[in-house]
Amino acid sequence: TDNPLVLGIETSCDETGIGIVRGRELLSNTIASSMDEHARYGGVVPEVAARAHLEAIVPAIHEAVAEAGISLHDLDAIAVTSGPGLSGALMVGIGAAKALAVSLDKPLYAVNHLVGHVGADILDPAGDAFEYPTVALLVSGGHTSLLLVRDLVSNVELLGETIDDAAGEAFDKVARVLGLPYPGGPQIDRVAASGDPKAIRFPRGLTLPKDLEKHRYDFSFSGLKTAVARWVEKKRDDGDEVPVADVAASFREAVADVLLTKAIAACHDYDVPRLLLGGGVVANARVRELAAERAQAAGVQLRIPPLSLCTDNGAMIAELGAQLIMNGHAPSTLDFPADSSLPV
Ligand code: KG4
Ligand code: ZN
Repeated sequence: TDNPLVLGIETSCDETGIGIVRGRELLSNTIASSMDEHARYGGVVPEVAARAHLEAIVPAIHEAVAEAGISLHDLDAIAVTSGPGLSGALMVGIGAAKALAVSLDKPLYAVNHLVGHVGADILDPAGDAFEYPTVALLVSGGHTSLLLVRDLVSNVELLGETIDDAAGEAFDKVARVLGLPYPGGPQIDRVAASGDPKAIRFPRGLTLPKDLEKHRYDFSFSGLKTAVARWVEKKRDDGDEVPVADVAASFREAVADVLLTKAIAACHDYDVPRLLLGGGVVANARVRELAAERAQAAGVQLRIPPLSLCTDNGAMIAELGAQLIMNGHAPSTLDFPADSSLPV
């Protein structure tokens, strides 16, 4: 089918995302977030997220359909995130997708959330999407992954990922230590603007020669988070004022440095002159700045889709479904499960 009309459903974390695409064209991208409900816990609570999806999903589907100006009967297919993500949250999206597929008698495509982030690039209205191969760095509250994409629908390799906390999670935890509200990423980013990134030298996880052998493309942020917490505690114990802006700037610098060092190393090692960024942490001002700097110095082309396509959304899932159809892939059988650790 040329330019299939596909509805995508994304419920792997705290965003209920419904998107509709026609081929490479974005028709609608509706997001309902349960972020506010998680704020008092300081992080996403799986059970709360699943319940919120259940309430939000049907209205979100109606909204996306209305915005796209289509009828559900016009669809060529449904696509849904089957993993990785929170099991209970995934199950709500998968249940809705199967119900739609059965009742409308449409094919259903189960897709990988991380590969979906890469597919988001195709929908960027600002220009032609990347050619492949490309390296993709995906950083959010739920994942920190480095991918080598030789072909979106048939050849995606996971080069590395976090062995503990996701980068966004580290931002949220450090913000808590500094007494800033959830989600902490935007708060740290704001406060860091007036701080000195060289004030404190925080550790860069998994960058020592001994770590690089086994973990060249892996990330670790839990040691960094602990180092920040210890540093702040010591200041408080000593009765000194905590230089919040300097701590935030120095922490942000450490995260950005590690992310871009490893991403550019992957471009270099695999001789791939393209780097695509995705995930909510891509909103970070220093991450963006350093990405531009390092990419230019390395002769690597950089792409950062608009933020609405970088954060979790249904349109990227719909687009990956459309790409599968356009490349002749068969739909999924209706018995696939939610797979919280689905490999790429
Ligand atoms: O992709 P996303 O919206 O949702 C998932 O995690 O799935 O990413 C949210 C994460 C949160 O951890 C949030 O603190 C972080 O992205 N974030 C940021 C910034 N904006 C959002 N982290 C650093 N700097 C920011 N400006
Ligand atoms: Zn994501």
